[in-house]
Amino acid sequence: MPTSRDISADKFVFGCHRFGFGPAPGGGQVDVERHVMPLVKTAWEQGIRAFDSATLYRATLQLGRALDALGIHPNEIRFQTKCLRYLGLAVGDAKEHQPEALLQGIPARYHGLTDRWDGSYKGVEQQVCRERIEYGGDLLHGVALHDPPDMEKQVGLNWATDIHPAVEFLKTAKQSGFVGRIGLGIKEPEFVHRFIAEEPGALDYAGLTFCPSILRPLLKIIAAGEAQGFEVTLMGINYGQAFTLTEDPLTAPPFLYNYEVATQAERELMSRYFRICGSTPLLHLSAAVAGLLVTHFPKVMTQIVTSTMTPSRLVETMKLVREAQVPAPVWAELKAAELIPREFPTT
Ligand SMILES: NC(=O)c1ccc[n+]([C@@H]2O[C@H](COP(=O)([O-])OP(=O)(O)OC[C@H]3O[C@@H](n4cnc5c(N)ncnc54)[C@H](OP(=O)(O)O)[C@@H]3O)[C@@H](O)[C@H]2O)c1
Repeated sequence: MPTSRDISADKFVFGCHRFGFGPAPGGGQVDVERHVMPLVKTAWEQGIRAFDSATLYRATLQLGRALDALGIHPNEIRFQTKCLRYLGLAVGDAKEHQPEALLQGIPARYHGLTDRWDGSYKGVEQQVCRERIEYGGDLLHGVALHDPPDMEKQVGLNWATDIHPAVEFLKTAKQSGFVGRIGLGIKEPEFVHRFIAEEPGALDYAGLTFCPSILRPLLKIIAAGEAQGFEVTLMGINYGQAFTLTEDPLTAPPFLYNYEVATQAERELMSRYFRICGSTPLLHLSAAVAGLLVTHFPKVMTQIVTSTMTPSRLVETMKLVREAQVPAPVWAELKAAELIPREFPTT
């Protein structure tokens, strides 16, 4: 019998991005009744009460409709979303800044729209109010700034105009009780340190796309969270597809590493994990690391956001986070190879 990590269902959050972007299992458009309702029902039955979305995902209306059809009052869930990035009409000087790898997943009804950034007070207000109306509850449990480092990489970022007014709006909304918490939803760990330096006291949660290969910077963020009183949430645990591979990543077909197509260096890095893990699937390693993080840092590590379009997979992922085991010699070898930090608690 595997030993179970004591992780309450409260630590899990269901990620909604595929409700908007799809594809549905087997391909094609997502249908609320056929695809969204079974997932929301399964999440609810597993004890999940928190859902993570984003204005960009175009997924929140589907969530709201599924809750309605299932007879779950939206105020019974904790709904968190993200602002700034959204799919707007390509007019004026709007520039595309969504990574090429993600564009492939966007369904036809969003074509002709572009991934835009509106950090103005009014723009953010519109984005988050729409999210509130679409899920149907009274409040937003959290609102995160969505991927500012992506924007910076692709079109540049001006803190004073692109970030600060959004933070000011969210602070006002928090004071009024409409927004519960202010967060980040990002792929670059370093940005957390920059944000807390630029906007002291504003951050309630740092949501980071996660996998074991970023444990070292993550431990630094956890230490900052402990010192400064913000929480850390894992936005996914497989870095796109990197930790779901079952063949040597060096020679596998193209796969997503941190939601962009893996480079040669990233393939080589993943291959080192793969060879040391041997018969332990990479998926088990990432689930075990996520489970150990929430077990060892319970105050700071508050959420594992996971997503799928297959209800049984949600159940399987929760089970893996609680039960996946990595043999002691594998941990030792991963640490010796500096693929897992030596100080990381593996029991
Ligand atoms: N910048 C941001 O703020 C940001 C970025 C990324 C994610 N997020 C949030 O985090 C949520 C979760 O992200 P995620 O979907 O990447 O998380 P995840 O839970 O890490 O899942 C990643 C992928 O792993 C696959 N997977 C799981 N179990 C598997 C198995 N046994 N075999 C093969 N594949 C398996 C899933 O495939 P299937 O879908 O086919 O089951 C899924 O596509 C998102 O919905 C979003 O809310 C935020």
